[in-house]
Amino acid sequence: MMKKLALAACLVFIWVVFISSAGIAASDGPILIRFSHVVSENTPKGVGAKMFKELTEKRLKGKVEVEIYPSSQKYTDGQAILALVFGDLEMAAPSFPKFRQYTKALQIFDLPFLFQNVDDVHAFQNSAAGQGLLSSMEGLGLTGLGYWDNGMRVLSANKMIRHPDQLKGLAFRIESSLIFQEQYRRFDALAIPMPFKRLPDALREGVVDGYENAWSNIFSKKLHKLRNHFTEVEATYLGYMVVASKAFWDGLPSDIRGELERIIDEVTVEVNRLAKEKESADKKLVLADKDVTLTKLSAEEKKIWKDAMLPIWDQYRDEIGSELLGAAEKAAAEN
Ligand code: LMR
Repeated sequence: MMKKLALAACLVFIWVVFISSAGIAASDGPILIRFSHVVSENTPKGVGAKMFKELTEKRLKGKVEVEIYPSSQKYTDGQAILALVFGDLEMAAPSFPKFRQYTKALQIFDLPFLFQNVDDVHAFQNSAAGQGLLSSMEGLGLTGLGYWDNGMRVLSANKMIRHPDQLKGLAFRIESSLIFQEQYRRFDALAIPMPFKRLPDALREGVVDGYENAWSNIFSKKLHKLRNHFTEVEATYLGYMVVASKAFWDGLPSDIRGELERIIDEVTVEVNRLAKEKESADKKLVLADKDVTLTKLSAEEKKIWKDAMLPIWDQYRDEIGSELLGAAEKAAAEN
């Protein structure tokens, strides 16, 4: 608890120092937006970042320039969030688990089987509660600008998996989520948090037996060449919050900020369209490999996974906020 308070106090201090110096950098020459992400350029997020750069440099020619660092070239997501707070980066789009140390509320997206599909997720994100989450980290210097999709996470392992009991004794790479950790603990499996960029080597070296991820990340990083058995558990959705340094964003001239917001809205539509398209197209490309197996779960089989994981909701209800959880359940049910 003390450690968390100290981290929060430290971040607020850094933000206050940074806010007082923000704007200086923008005073000579075009404003520079450095945008970091960890995936390949041919994924929905990778395409979105490039489209953001193209539209920005066209419509705000001479006023704003965008530099993109894809594939963890410069930062992992954890480092990128800190870099935003420190003023070494202006924008990023990390997946939800990466924000765990900044807000407990975003863990809502880690809860297994809360959202059955991406449409359920959108219903929640578009609700007042979902929109409210965009400003949930402002006190720590992060402004949420929108949500970008990837897709539902599928499970990959070194053997065919149909029943959760088969996970026993295996090790899985997870994003830095305590909920994901708890999920594997329930199955007597080991969960090892690590940055996305370490996943291929961890598979190659046998540090982990498997992982969960979305089809576009699997295909673009050729992860199916490293573990070829997939199970459509789809307990959670992999999506992103596009975030900016609050000091930077608030310090922008309002006409520029307004144009950037319009661009982000346009890019969001395209990213989400592409995510939907790639979820099935990249899955097909992975399955075209003759060594790959896909285990589809019947409704009864999925229920076994779901029943085993549902108690996690109660464990995290207070931390996430029961009102928020209620809003998400309602949005998904009404969808
Ligand atoms: C992961 O760490 O597996 C993902 O968050 C990577 C990404 O950004 O899609």
